[in-house]
Amino acid sequence: MTTYSIAVIPGDGIGNEVVPEAQRVLEAAARAGGFELDWTHYDWSCERFAKTGSMMPADGLDRIRDKDAIFLGAVGFPGVPDHVSLWGLLIPIRRGFHQYVNLRPVKLMKGVESPLKGREPGDIDFYVVRENNEGEYSSIGGRLYEGQPDELVMQQSVFTRRGCDRVMRYAFDLAAGRKKHVTSATKSNGISHTMPYWDERFAAVAKDYPGFTTDQFHIDILTAHFVRNPDWFDVVVASNLFGDILSDLGPAVVGSIGIAPGANINPEKDYPSMFEPVHGSAPDIAGKGIANPIGQVWSGAMMLRHLGEEAAARAIEDAIEDVLARRDSLTRDLGGTAGTRELTDAIIGALPASRVHSPAA
Ligand code: NAD
Ligand code: IPM
Ligand code: MN
Repeated sequence: MTTYSIAVIPGDGIGNEVVPEAQRVLEAAARAGGFELDWTHYDWSCERFAKTGSMMPADGLDRIRDKDAIFLGAVGFPGVPDHVSLWGLLIPIRRGFHQYVNLRPVKLMKGVESPLKGREPGDIDFYVVRENNEGEYSSIGGRLYEGQPDELVMQQSVFTRRGCDRVMRYAFDLAAGRKKHVTSATKSNGISHTMPYWDERFAAVAKDYPGFTTDQFHIDILTAHFVRNPDWFDVVVASNLFGDILSDLGPAVVGSIGIAPGANINPEKDYPSMFEPVHGSAPDIAGKGIANPIGQVWSGAMMLRHLGEEAAARAIEDAIEDVLARRDSLTRDLGGTAGTRELTDAIIGALPASRVHSPAA
């Protein structure tokens, strides 16, 4: 039997609640699919930082380098400054393992109410492909004249030809199996070096994809189109920061950030890829057992697809769709009263094998 070895990093806050629940779903899908998941747990988190002064051990990446995939909850919690926790754990993994694509689907599902008037399932179904290794996120910069009236800080953005081209190619390749329509998020009117370069690379890469339609919008009006015209989009490719913003806005227009999945992908498979929901540690609801587990579970389905277990991935996604459409086991963010565990049980009950083996579920 095929066994996949998975590094599990629940991280902080609701990561500790939704990760074990998602593992139950993945275990059930693995049993039905005839493969095994061999989990190794890592306590890398803000709690670890409080005890030891670091989010993960110095050789952290080496410890998980040989895993087939990484399953992560969320990183960051009050008590540790966010830039310290994130640059101490999440961002080094994304960069160290060349996970240069952050793939985040946006899909309006039956049973989930969009805050937009008159939108039906099927109307909104696109992907945000976010550059995940460079761009506006950088550690290059500094502060001068600290404490003086002239105090200033600078932060450098980095856009490389290789970095732009590879994420854009990924977006076009993804669109090839869809509507062959790629939209680029830009801001080349105001940001006068990096964004015109981004546009230049987008035009150059697009030349290799004849028969595709392309468009580009400045990020300001693009956010408006996400709300007014979300049916326009198929694949949206964006820099690190713009992609971050769009991938919270997308889920908001299709109902809840609690259900949004994500994958940090190294397409060449030279390194393990990492699967985590779009949402964070949600300190405001942590410890209450009410977090929506769907974002984590769906990220797990994306992990199984990446590992080649398409049927199991599909089964989980179908189970999520079933449970959402039924509306009888939803968490509060979706207007229900169920807890994290109850919603997870409903997903497990909706998996095909569970239907056969435990009709009472
Ligand atoms: P957040 O996503 O944690 O929470 C935003 C809002 O959405 C909160 O009201 C929260 O209760 C709600 N929410 C989020 N996930 C939910 C779920 N599964 N079910 C129900 N409601 C949910 O964003 P934030 O408050 O900006 O960030 C909190 C911390 O998480 C910060 O430290 C931040 O840096 C970190 N963060 C980490 C990641 C990550 O690890 N990938 C992503 C985003 C934020
Ligand atoms: C995300 C998060 C992270 C990001 C933060 C926590 C650094 O918002 O995964 O979307 O901006 O990449
Ligand atoms: Mn984000």
